Amino acid sequence: MAGARGRFLLAFTVSLVAWWCLALGWTPEQDQNLQIPAGWSHGGRVSPLDELVLTFALRQQNVDHLAKLVERVSDPDSPQYGKFLSLEELRVLVQPSLVTLSTVHKWLGAYGIKDCKTISTMDFLECVMPASTAERLLPGAQFHRYVSGQHSAVRSPVPYTLHEEMAEHIDFVGGLHRFPVERNMASGKEKMAWHRHKREAFHLGVTPAVIRKRYNLTAGDIGVWPNNSQACAQFLEQYFHPADLAEFMQLFGSGFGHRSRVEQVVGHQGQGKAGLEASLDVEYIMSTGANISTWVFSNAGRHESQEPFLAWLLLLSNMSSVPWVHSVSYGDDEDSLSRAYMERINVEFMKAAARGLTVLFASGDEGAGCRNVAGGSHAFRPSFPASSPYVTTVGGTAFKNPFRVTWEVTDYISGGGFSNVFPMPDYQATAVKNFLHLAPKLPPSSYYNRSGRAYPDLSALSDNYWVVTNRIPLPWVSGTSASTPVVGGIVALINDHRLQNGWPPLGFLNPALYKLQEKGPSDAFYDVTQGCHLSCLDEAVQGQGFCAGPSWDPVTGWGTPNFPQLLRALLNL
Ligand SMILES: *[C@@H]1O[C@H](CO)[C@@H](O)[C@H](O)[C@H]1NC(C)=O
Ligand SMILES: *[C@@H]1O[C@H](CO)[C@@H](O)[C@H](O)[C@H]1NC(C)=O
Ligand SMILES: *[C@@H]1O[C@H](CO)[C@@H](O)[C@H](O)[C@H]1NC(C)=O
Ligand SMILES: *[C@@H]1O[C@H](CO)[C@@H](O)[C@H](O)[C@H]1NC(C)=O
Ligand SMILES: *[C@@H]1O[C@H](CO)[C@@H](O)[C@H](O)[C@H]1NC(C)=O
Repeated sequence: MAGARGRFLLAFTVSLVAWWCLALGWTPEQDQNLQIPAGWSHGGRVSPLDELVLTFALRQQNVDHLAKLVERVSDPDSPQYGKFLSLEELRVLVQPSLVTLSTVHKWLGAYGIKDCKTISTMDFLECVMPASTAERLLPGAQFHRYVSGQHSAVRSPVPYTLHEEMAEHIDFVGGLHRFPVERNMASGKEKMAWHRHKREAFHLGVTPAVIRKRYNLTAGDIGVWPNNSQACAQFLEQYFHPADLAEFMQLFGSGFGHRSRVEQVVGHQGQGKAGLEASLDVEYIMSTGANISTWVFSNAGRHESQEPFLAWLLLLSNMSSVPWVHSVSYGDDEDSLSRAYMERINVEFMKAAARGLTVLFASGDEGAGCRNVAGGSHAFRPSFPASSPYVTTVGGTAFKNPFRVTWEVTDYISGGGFSNVFPMPDYQATAVKNFLHLAPKLPPSSYYNRSGRAYPDLSALSDNYWVVTNRIPLPWVSGTSASTPVVGGIVALINDHRLQNGWPPLGFLNPALYKLQEKGPSDAFYDVTQGCHLSCLDEAVQGQGFCAGPSWDPVTGWGTPNFPQLLRALLNL
């Protein structure tokens, strides 16, 4: 997962923004953090003829209608449950108005920009243009090159503006400010030191056999439906090696039927060294979602002026047939992103939900997180997209006794908390209110927003995984990047049974999940009730965020899956 990295806008950028607004037009992302993230160094201004790829998010129609539709198709008590839209039906619903389409095309045409690609839902345009044209099109923007290790990115360190008349037609322009996010796993020295400190240096570690035993998957719990599918997404030049996957399955895949090859790679698979995270995602989604056709979305948007995460979303909306389940370990600090951007990305998740896709995000590896707020005090720091009300967010746990496959407790890194941007959705209101009401001790209320979307929704083991990467089996790999593909595979297995019975897949899971749990104690989850996650190292909270407790909590959600019972509960919705 990404580390916290944003700070505040410097006072001077804020006043510059205000000036630009008056002078030249409209700044759609004036709250976007413009700081260059640590690790990226300046490589000079790009030359005027250098080509950029910018992504224009066109204003959609019927977003309110889309939100209502998602509610109906995801609510097991609605007669519309499971009546998902095809990509074509989705286009009819959300595509921008003809006025928007023609205004934007005229505007781009006036600057000589002709090389544009649209997508099936027609609500994004990806256009190639020289840097000099981009700078005239978006007054204020100034394109520079930045370098981090082997990666380079072209970005504008100053805000862009749009013509006032574009304000009702464009949500934001991608490719100016947000840098590709590095996924720093909680694997490194710190966690190892922590384990040594706890005298756990020699324990067994988590393997597919451990996961399958713990979540009560038998040898027979594998996919059999030919059209079922699952996927994980990788950004920032992370590759998996087919040979690593094959070796992993040879070492750890005995005792259950499985595949040892990825069915389809969408995008670019490099030849270089394998990435730890890429190997982890593929190896574990294929161990719980065993024998299910698996896709990898790899490094979409590789041009140095594109945002890879945004490019992945465009891909989803440009393919009529994609896997039913997507596991994504990616996130950024909510407070570093513009509201315009987050709200639009949230609509992209509604679009996925309308199609019946289950989108799972890792909750992050920094517990409640921490940021400075005005007056020298602190507050927790939620992560996005984990905080979107239209995704299912996965937290992390660890074994209480690392030599025994029983009893799970909080993994102290497990991301969780409350959004400052998205209000609490109805589906979780009762569960969250109960938590806030019953928790014996809560952090000071100034640290979080109790009316926001609370996460995670559920969790799984996130500590001490074995992974094969570059042909070498490595222990100690940890993070919610590990728990997310595990849950992804389990959701895909449940979909398998639903498809076998002629029923639609689960789609957006949260409404069904919270409803199921609120019916009364069920055995569908192992309720994690011990341990707290980390947060600010200050006097008020002393490094502690929220603590797990009975029922739902903002550390481990509902707990970890007990496959046979969860299957039973979700099969006959
Ligand atoms: C979307 O798919 C169509 C058809 O395959 C393709 O022509 C178009 O370039 C794609 N759009 C983008 C943004 O890649
Ligand atoms: C694996 O899935 C395929 C369909 O995708 C099915 O034909 C095959 O029987 C399954 N393997 C096992 C061992 O059940
Ligand atoms: C499986 O997928 C193929 C190709 O996408 C499709 O033609 C076929 O109808 C599907 N079969 C079922 C039973 O859904
Ligand atoms: C708390 O969240 C709500 C939306 O859920 C938002 O309107 C409000 O501004 C947030 N408050 C703070 C202090 O961020
Ligand atoms: C698996 O089932 C056993 C009993 O059948 C139960 O004790 C255990 O808690 C279950 N595992 C989970 C993760 O719920």
